[in-house]
Amino acid sequence: MDTHKDAIPPHGGQLINRIATPAERQEFLEQADHLSRVRLDERAISDLVMIAIGGFSPLKGFLDQANYETVVEQMRLKDGLPWSIPVTLSVSEEVADTLKEGNWIRLDDAEGNFIGVLELIQKYHYNKAHEALNVYRTNDMEHPGVKVVYEQGAVNLAGPVWLLQRDAHPLFPNYQIDPVQSRQLFQERGWQTIVGFQTRNPIHRAHEYIQKCALEVVDGLFLHPLVGATKSDDVPADVRMRCYEIMMEKYFPQDRVILAINPSAMRYAGPREAIFHAIVRKNYGCTHFIVGRDHAGVGDYYGTYDAQYIFDEFKPEELGIVPMKFEHAFYCTRTLQMATTKTSPSLKEERIHLSGTKVREMLRRGELPPPEFSRPEVAAELIKAMQN
Ligand code: ADX
Repeated sequence: MDTHKDAIPPHGGQLINRIATPAERQEFLEQADHLSRVRLDERAISDLVMIAIGGFSPLKGFLDQANYETVVEQMRLKDGLPWSIPVTLSVSEEVADTLKEGNWIRLDDAEGNFIGVLELIQKYHYNKAHEALNVYRTNDMEHPGVKVVYEQGAVNLAGPVWLLQRDAHPLFPNYQIDPVQSRQLFQERGWQTIVGFQTRNPIHRAHEYIQKCALEVVDGLFLHPLVGATKSDDVPADVRMRCYEIMMEKYFPQDRVILAINPSAMRYAGPREAIFHAIVRKNYGCTHFIVGRDHAGVGDYYGTYDAQYIFDEFKPEELGIVPMKFEHAFYCTRTLQMATTKTSPSLKEERIHLSGTKVREMLRRGELPPPEFSRPEVAAELIKAMQN
């Protein structure tokens, strides 16, 4: 039967699937007790999953040295394909010394469960300061992404991986939509153009505004909150997902919007991560991707629109997904609607925009953020979560 054409080809042309087949799984299980083990942290587990389900296509495993170096220095894989974030598996010298190149390595979760296999093709040392300065534009240990780099092991393990099996997400099984499925859903709905939205924060009016502005000009909106590891003071994923469920029930047209989880971990790499986030959404089948103010930023390490400017460093066809760039949005008390300085002549004092920190402080005091900032039902959910 004729299959529909995908809305957009995956990055590198082929959607990767590294979930072990039943036969491979059987083989791995038989070997399980004889293999050297490496225990993965939360981020490495989510990277393994993202590789396996094709979210990180064309990666089939953790980067080898040659690819690592071109990614860090040039934002490209060795073959020239844009790739802005090093996806690596790091271990200590002591652990690395026990592992032999050429062998299969058993990958375990924190509880010691066997979750994947790495065919170790290479072990290599890398320069942490060099990675931090290139990828994060700082080597300040206070930066949450840089901190992870400095705290991780000194040796990277490279090679293709297999995920033993794709388990349902323990918290959000109904929202676990992998790239194969999202592509299928987009086709079923007849969407030609789909805009992806990355977020790690509870939804507020500015998010809703830019999502809906984008949706006005494409066929569908793919709401794709990140639920992998985030820094400890970010709002937990279950709370954020409840806020999105509330929004889906009342404020979004169900036939135009799909809500799904993105299993990745946050890097807080600002501009570099915006490129990475766009490529990942391309793999999920999106044709467009929203990049607003200080995308994937933290503190004041990046300029407000640096994550937009970085797209100019690539040819549009190399990225293959269109960034939709939005200015800083606020509620405008003059025009009585959400706006940006592009669409409203308001004075500073006529603009309501609250920082995440300010909202967290209000919630802690039991105060509802104003309806100009947050939908009341979402604010109520956040207060409930804060007080538990
Ligand atoms: S992020 O780390 O995932 O980027 P967040 O969830 O706050 O953080 O942002 C999700 C998306 O919304 C990003 O593209 C970000 O740039 C954009 N965004 C957040 N707040 C605003 C705002 N007030 N105006 C315009 N864009 C915004």
